Amino acid sequence: MLQIKKMPAYHDVDGFRIPQSMSPNCLRGTIQYKPKDDDVFIVTFPKCGTTWTQHIVYNILNKGEEIKNFKEFIIRCPFMEFSGPQSAEIMPRPGAIKTHLPFHLNPYSPKAKYIYVARNPKDCCVSFYHHTKMLTEYQFTDGTFDDFFEIFLNGETDFGDYFDNLLSWYKHRSDPNVLFLIYENMKSDTRGAVFKIAEFLGEDYATMLNSDEKLVEKILYQTSAEYMKKNVNEQIKEYENKEQNVQEDVPEGIKYCNEYMKKNNIKPMDDVQFVRKAVVGDWKNYFTPAQSKRLMEKFEKRTRETNIPLLWPG
Ligand code: A3P
Repeated sequence: MLQIKKMPAYHDVDGFRIPQSMSPNCLRGTIQYKPKDDDVFIVTFPKCGTTWTQHIVYNILNKGEEIKNFKEFIIRCPFMEFSGPQSAEIMPRPGAIKTHLPFHLNPYSPKAKYIYVARNPKDCCVSFYHHTKMLTEYQFTDGTFDDFFEIFLNGETDFGDYFDNLLSWYKHRSDPNVLFLIYENMKSDTRGAVFKIAEFLGEDYATMLNSDEKLVEKILYQTSAEYMKKNVNEQIKEYENKEQNVQEDVPEGIKYCNEYMKKNNIKPMDDVQFVRKAVVGDWKNYFTPAQSKRLMEKFEKRTRETNIPLLWPG
């Protein structure tokens, strides 16, 4: 194993690794949360297409209505372990909750629904590297890809080990209340993915899409990488610039993060690219042949007993 020169600002809470800027109380409260019957969870390992799926689900549930700004996004599409379990109470319904937890830690009810999105680990690693460098609270702005690669390969990033997360949900991929999606398949057949998600959310949503082609096109347009690159990134930028210090009416976890930033004298990023390249195969621009080989060895070892290797052939 190579020496890691720099670690992002993580902390371990009850054995689970999260960013230092994330509240332990919010994590613990989320693990203890009892899902309501109409809860829909969008679960991923970080950087596997969460925001994209959140926008697709939001568009379906709200019949193509757009999210107006990032604050509204936080309230209507809460990231539960970051914002805190209270965020599910104030979320307007129908809505969907984002989590990054492995199956055994995620709030579970047989009546709640779970959309899991998996992505090729190599692209996930590159995306996570950019994310960790970009968000100043990680204090990794000068971190290198080589360092991040080692952290990812060792399963030492925040939200734990990529393979633990994937395998824990893969076991449940055929459960009636789980929809298991693959980022790369969503890219190659986005329309098919939108219909699959609608059907999973409820027959009425599928009927709605089947009878309204204009609505389908609107949803595809509003959730396209090009559209989201412009809109989502700008919305976050505007939020970071204007709302960082308005704390009264934000969820507990966001207050915690803002206070963490203040206490550590960390300025928020000024150019957020939450929707970055949004392509398949960017790893080829980052991985050395040796890194690729080492990740493939780990991939093969960890997924040997499953059909997961078939998800990302080559
Ligand atoms: P890249 O960094 O490889 O570009 P998450 O939302 O889980 O953090 O995942 C982020 C990844 O999803 C980023 O990948 C981002 O660009 C990509 N993404 C965001 N919106 C997308 C969209 N509409 N279509 C395809 N990919 C999208």
